[in-house]
Amino acid sequence: MAAAASVQAGRPLFARDCALCHGQLGNGRGLRASDFSTPPRDFTNAAWRASVTPARVYRSIRDGLPGTAMPAWRALGEDALVDLTAYVLSIKGGGPPAGR
Ligand code: HEC
Repeated sequence: MAAAASVQAGRPLFARDCALCHGQLGNGRGLRASDFSTPPRDFTNAAWRASVTPARVYRSIRDGLPGTAMPAWRALGEDALVDLTAYVLSIKGGGPPAGR
């Protein structure tokens, strides 16, 4: 699932649809991050990375998180959801590519 090609395909999708909230580096510090009562998830957080499963990440992206600003992205289609899941799971502590 986390094939390199999928990660590469997910990168521009993340920049287009997700970075505004989650940040270009995936660290939860997007331009709009401070607008929300529940802040966007920081994908570089070690505890989160250790606790999360690919299935949960996929479902969160597909269905959104009710009660938070996280929208459902079902309309992007299956391929995009798989690629975004792979990309999110590929984000390392410190965030790609320039750290924080
Ligand atoms: C409008 C702001 C916003 C946008 C755009 C957005 N998110 Fe989120 N996202 C959030 C918020 C707020 C949360 C909730 C934090 C929490 O409580 O887990 C969240 C949580 C998540 C989680 C964590 C789920 C979990 O179970 O821990 C994932 C994965 C995620 N977003 C992926 C994405 C992806 C991929 C995109 C782009 C397709 C995206 N988000 C776009 C605001 C946003």
